[in-house]
Amino acid sequence: MSDLSGKSAIVTGASSGIGEATARRLAAEGAGIALAARRTDRLEDLQAEIEADGGEAIVVATDVTDREQVQALADATLAAFGSIDILINNAGVMPLSFIKNLHEDEWEQMVDVNVKGVLHCVGAVLPTMLEQESGHIVNVSSTAGRRLFPGGAVYCGTKHFVRALSEGMRKELAPHHNIRVTSIQPGAVDTELTNTITDEEVIEMFEERHSGIEPLESDDIAESILYVVTAPDRVDVEELMVLPSDQRT
Ligand SMILES: NC(=O)c1ccc[n+]([C@@H]2O[C@H](COP(=O)([O-])OP(=O)(O)OC[C@H]3O[C@@H](n4cnc5c(N)ncnc54)[C@H](OP(=O)(O)O)[C@@H]3O)[C@@H](O)[C@H]2O)c1
Repeated sequence: MSDLSGKSAIVTGASSGIGEATARRLAAEGAGIALAARRTDRLEDLQAEIEADGGEAIVVATDVTDREQVQALADATLAAFGSIDILINNAGVMPLSFIKNLHEDEWEQMVDVNVKGVLHCVGAVLPTMLEQESGHIVNVSSTAGRRLFPGGAVYCGTKHFVRALSEGMRKELAPHHNIRVTSIQPGAVDTELTNTITDEEVIEMFEERHSGIEPLESDDIAESILYVVTAPDRVDVEELMVLPSDQRT
């Protein structure tokens, strides 16, 4: 029997990068996966891949900024698998910009997805986890949840929020309700995340900052998440920061 057989996991942002790799990895360990994101063509490809490997997955078109869609995701997961055991609260955007350049729409987008979207997912799964008296919520923060860098004031703010939320949730939920909460804090990972940066000055700075660093692969973070969610019940990994070996900041 695989480590996660009989369990179900919601993975938000499963259409690319860390979410896609994590969904694939958890499915390989036997979990039934609810694949959530906006790009459903990609989710359907991943579902087909998981099923071809003998796993189980459903696709739920979800914009995490919409609370009703997120509730529908939780309902669909419960209907398909009979429980919600794991939430990988991963969907996020990173349109970095210098504050002086006033990319206010992008500030708002980061708050909507990285802050409110994360809360919507917590709110949608918690009633089920409380009733089950078990569950594991993995919130994807970042090294940006611990450190600040120019061009990242708002993004880092959202990731600090995710880390603070996770610590607060763990204090309330772990001891009394058997719900584990973990904040994962990756360093640079080779994904599509930087594609949304429009501030030319930041693009230049970012390239310089990351030159010479071999980034992590999404699979490296998926493996870290697998470790966290398959640890024995007595083990609650509160935070896990995983960086490329040669990343300093
Ligand atoms: N890459 C890194 O270096 C790094 C480092 C630390 C932390 N992280 C965090 O890791 C998480 C995943 O990012 P990634 O690196 O894997 O980047 P990615 O490949 O760009 O993945 C981002 C995912 O978020 C989803 N998403 C964005 N807006 C959404 C919305 N409104 N509703 C639902 N889903 C939405 C995207 O799906 P759709 O566009 O299909 O909706 C996509 O699947 C993010 O929270 C990011 O902040 C990344």
